[in-house]
Amino acid sequence: MNEHTKIPMQQAPLADPGTVDYVRTGPGTLAGTYMRRFWHPIYCSRDLEPGRSKPLTIMSQKLALYRSQEGAVHCVDNRCAHRGAMLSTGWVEGDVIRCPYHGWAYGPNGQCVDQPMEIAGFKKNIRIGGYPTQEYLGFIWVYLGEGDPPEFVRYPEWEKASFVSPQIDTRACNWFQNIENYQDEAHVWFTHKRSALEGLDLNALPKLSCEKTPWGLRMVAKKQDGNERIVQFGMPNVCMFMVHPDNIKRQGEESTREETMWQMFLDYRVPVDDETHLQVHTIATFMNGPPSEEYKKRWKDFANAEAEAHDVAQRVLRGELHYDQIAEMCHHVPLAQDEVVQVGQGVIADRRRGIENLGATDVGIVAIRRLYTEELTALAEGRPLRKFERPEGLLPKGGADH
Ligand code: FES
Ligand SMILES: [Fe+2]
Repeated sequence: MNEHTKIPMQQAPLADPGTVDYVRTGPGTLAGTYMRRFWHPIYCSRDLEPGRSKPLTIMSQKLALYRSQEGAVHCVDNRCAHRGAMLSTGWVEGDVIRCPYHGWAYGPNGQCVDQPMEIAGFKKNIRIGGYPTQEYLGFIWVYLGEGDPPEFVRYPEWEKASFVSPQIDTRACNWFQNIENYQDEAHVWFTHKRSALEGLDLNALPKLSCEKTPWGLRMVAKKQDGNERIVQFGMPNVCMFMVHPDNIKRQGEESTREETMWQMFLDYRVPVDDETHLQVHTIATFMNGPPSEEYKKRWKDFANAEAEAHDVAQRVLRGELHYDQIAEMCHHVPLAQDEVVQVGQGVIADRRRGIENLGATDVGIVAIRRLYTEELTALAEGRPLRKFERPEGLLPKGGADH
């Protein structure tokens, strides 16, 4: 789609007046068209073995992701053009995926390349969607837009890190609630009061501000001790922030050497559909030499704690546990805390004025809605879109000296 193709302006369900629909991202929607102009990380590379295929849904689009025996990753629509069976349940044969129903086979670009019981010449007219993929920083990335993909964005700091830990969690609410959460520095002082972020001294409330950057938005929490915690948000759905050194050890454990230094998070939010989204994150640890085995083991343990955090969060939401018990009952404490507050907002948050009441601390929330409204309005009206780029050295800050 070129920049002059007009897409009708839409109103989101339960919208904040004056904003456009950034909630729905299915094919043909305004936000969905915008989001399809970017590469998105959608799967952990380690979870897709050679010769295997996985079903997944991204922005309400059903996809089959598969890896050839030689290691190449491909992504096609997960619906066979014959009579609709799921291709992800079929066979991977080299770079081709074959439907288990009647054996039609498709190449990485979605072209049908074999129809064992059909007349010659039929297959050349059959094509499903096939999408470019990349593997980078332990993730599989996909471009679901039309035409050639944009330049692939790289993160040199992560390439230089001594340790990265890719991880993907699923959260059962609309993706934009979690995009807003990036700009919501106030929540750190309450939601995460009892977590590894305690080291920030979360009793003294900071002054919050938010400003535009060439990449998107920068949220600053100026603390009473003079330190600043800075979160860098990049359009359309990426964020960098610092995490306290002790974030992965269990209560009572000694810190490893690696857990004495701040770590940097690179974090994406990718819609699954309008009611669920992926949190895609990787931490970068910077130190001399390789990480210790104990640290790697702790990370694995931490990454596997998603189900436990989800269970605890659901019990808090049902009133069976007190919010303060989260810190004692699960390993991945901030994950459960964020799930409680975001899922508690509803599957799609009600942003109607008077039902929602924004205050001075919501400076970042107002800014991100405005930024999306500007870009989506430009897209709807066929005007050129801003190009967001991260200048060298644009990085987050932790907000404490230690
Ligand atoms: S449904 Fe796939 S080959 Fe028939
Ligand atoms: Fe949070």
